Amino acid sequence: MAMLLLIPLFLSSILLFPISSATTFSPQPGICYGQLGDNLPPPRESVSLITSVHAKRVKLYDANPSILHALQDTRLQVSIMVPNDLILNISTNQTLSDQWVSDNVVPYHPRTLIRYLLVGNEVTSTTAATATWPHLVPAMRRIKRSLKSHGIRKIKVGTSSAMDVLQTSFPPSNGAFRKDLTAPVMKPMLKFLNRTKSFFFLDVYPFFTWSADPLNINLDYALFESKTVTVKDPVSGLVYTNLFDQMVDAVYFAMKRLGFPGVRIFIAETGWPNGGDLDQIGANTYNAATYNRNFIKKVTKKPRVGTPARPGSALPSFLFALFNENQKPGPSTERHFGLLHPNGSRVYDVDLSGETPEAEFRPLPVPENNEKFKGRIWCVAARRDNATALTAALAYACSQGNGTCDPIQSKGKCFKPDSVFWHASYAFSAYWAQFRKVGGTCYFNGLATQTAKDPSYGSCKFPSVTL
Ligand SMILES: *[C@@H]1O[C@H](CO)[C@@H](O)[C@H](O)[C@H]1NC(C)=O
Ligand SMILES: *[C@@H]1O[C@H](CO)[C@@H](O)[C@H](O)[C@H]1NC(C)=O
Ligand SMILES: *[C@@H]1O[C@H](CO)[C@@H](O)[C@H](O)[C@H]1NC(C)=O
Ligand SMILES: *[C@@H]1O[C@H](CO)[C@@H](O)[C@H](O)[C@H]1NC(C)=O
Ligand SMILES: *[C@@H]1O[C@H](CO)[C@@H](O)[C@H](O)[C@H]1NC(C)=O
Ligand SMILES: *[C@@H]1O[C@H](CO)[C@@H](O)[C@H](O)[C@H]1NC(C)=O
Repeated sequence: MAMLLLIPLFLSSILLFPISSATTFSPQPGICYGQLGDNLPPPRESVSLITSVHAKRVKLYDANPSILHALQDTRLQVSIMVPNDLILNISTNQTLSDQWVSDNVVPYHPRTLIRYLLVGNEVTSTTAATATWPHLVPAMRRIKRSLKSHGIRKIKVGTSSAMDVLQTSFPPSNGAFRKDLTAPVMKPMLKFLNRTKSFFFLDVYPFFTWSADPLNINLDYALFESKTVTVKDPVSGLVYTNLFDQMVDAVYFAMKRLGFPGVRIFIAETGWPNGGDLDQIGANTYNAATYNRNFIKKVTKKPRVGTPARPGSALPSFLFALFNENQKPGPSTERHFGLLHPNGSRVYDVDLSGETPEAEFRPLPVPENNEKFKGRIWCVAARRDNATALTAALAYACSQGNGTCDPIQSKGKCFKPDSVFWHASYAFSAYWAQFRKVGGTCYFNGLATQTAKDPSYGSCKFPSVTL
C-alpha cells in the first residue's frame, strides 16, 4: 500500500514542476496587435480573433484603454508600451512615471493580465532619437519603481531592441553591441534586466537579413527548411541549421561579452511578410506561412530546443503581426506582415498552439518572387479618389528633385493629358528614379505603387528604375 501511495506522489511532484513553469512561460508564441490601419476590426472582435489563432499573449504598441478593457477577464497575457516620446520626460520625473503607471496599468490590473511593460520601441534604431538613448534605462528604472509603489511585482519591465544594436553579428560568437550604445545604454540596461530578472526583448527578422543578401544566404536556411545547409561557427564550434538561431546567438554572445550571459532573451517580434513591392524579393504567402509555421514548431517542440548557444532554453515570443496594417509607412512589406486580413479572414492557415498537423492546412499558393525581379519598374499613382492628397504628393515629389517635373510643365512632353493623376504618375516615377538609391520609396502615403508596365506614351517617356 505504501508503495502504491508513494508512486503517484512521486510522479505528481515531477509533473508539477514543468506544468507550473509552463504557465509562466507558455512556449506558444503570442501575437503583436499593431493598429496602424484604418480598416481594422474593433478591440472586442480583434481579441476574439487573437484567441481564434490560439495566441496566449498579446503585445500592444501603446496602452490603448479600450483594448486593455476588452482584454479584461481573458486569459491572454499582455505586453504594453510607453511611447518613445515620453521616455525623456519620464527619465527625469518620478511623478510623471507614477502618473503613467496610475493611468495605464493600475485601472486594468489585475483583471487584465499585464505581464510585460516595454519602455519604448526600438529606440536605439532611430537616429532622430539619439538624445533619448541615455534616458532609456533611467526611464525603465523609474517605471519599475512606480509599479513597485503599487505593489505590482509581476510585470517585467524592458524595452525592445532591433538587430541593429549589434556592431558585429557574424560568426555569432563574434557578436558585439554597437560602440555608441555599449556604455550609455547596453551595460546599464543589462544590469537592470539582470537585477530585475527581466528579459532582453529582441526583434528578429531573418527576412531582412536574407533579402539583403539572397545570393549568399540560402532561402531554406532563412525559412527553417534547410536539410543540408548548415553554418559552423569556427570559434565556438557551434553548428547552425537556420538563420534565426544564428541571429539570436549573436545577441547572446554580445551580452556574454559584457558579463551578462544569464539574461534571458524574449523574441519581441519575428515574422515574414506575405506580400511586398516588385523590387522586394521573397515576400509572399508561401514563405510567410512556412516561416511562421516552422517557428511555431520550433518553439513549441518538447523537450525545448533553444538555440545552439543555449540548448534547451525557453524562447518566449510574439509573432508579428495580427493584421496587415495599411497605414504603415515604408516599403510594401511593412503593410503585409499580418496573419489576418483586416476583415478577419486568414491570409493562410496557422495555429499558434502548434497542435494542428500540417496536413490539415489548406494548400499554399506557389511562391512567384523568390528570385530577384529583373527589368524596369515605374512608380505610378495608385488611386484616383483623393485629388487633394494626390495634388499635395505631386507637389512634394516635384519639390525634391532637380528638374524632376520639367516634362509636365505646360510646354513639356508629358503635360497632356493635363490631369492630376497622370502628372502625379510622372512625378512619382521621376522622383523614385532619382531617389531610390538613397532610400526614396514609391509609397506617398499609399497613393503610389510600383508597376512593370511602362506608362510612357507618344513622346512622353517616364523615368524608370532598372533592376
Ligand atoms: C516634456 O516636458 C517638457 C517640459 O516640462 C514639456 O514641454 C514637453 O511637452 C514634455 N513632453 C511630452 C512628450 O510630454
Ligand atoms: C513632472 O510631471 C508632473 C506630472 O505630469 C508635472 O506636473 C510636473 O510639472 C513635472 N515636473 C517637471 C519638473 O517637469
Ligand atoms: C546577475 O544576476 C545574478 C543573479 O541575481 C547575480 O548572481 C549576478 O552577479 C548578476 N550579474 C551581474 C554581472 O551583475
Ligand atoms: C477579406 O479580405 C481579403 C483581402 O482583401 C479578401 O481576399 C477576402 O475575400 C475577404 N473575405 C471576406 C469574407 O470578405
Ligand atoms: C484626402 O487625403 C487627405 C490627407 O492627404 C485627408 O485628410 C482627407 O481626409 C482625404 N479625403 C478623402 C475624401 O479621403
Ligand atoms: C542640379 O543639376 C545641376 C545641373 O545638372 C547640377 O549642377 C546640380 O548640382 C544639381 N543639384 C542637385 C541638388 O542635385
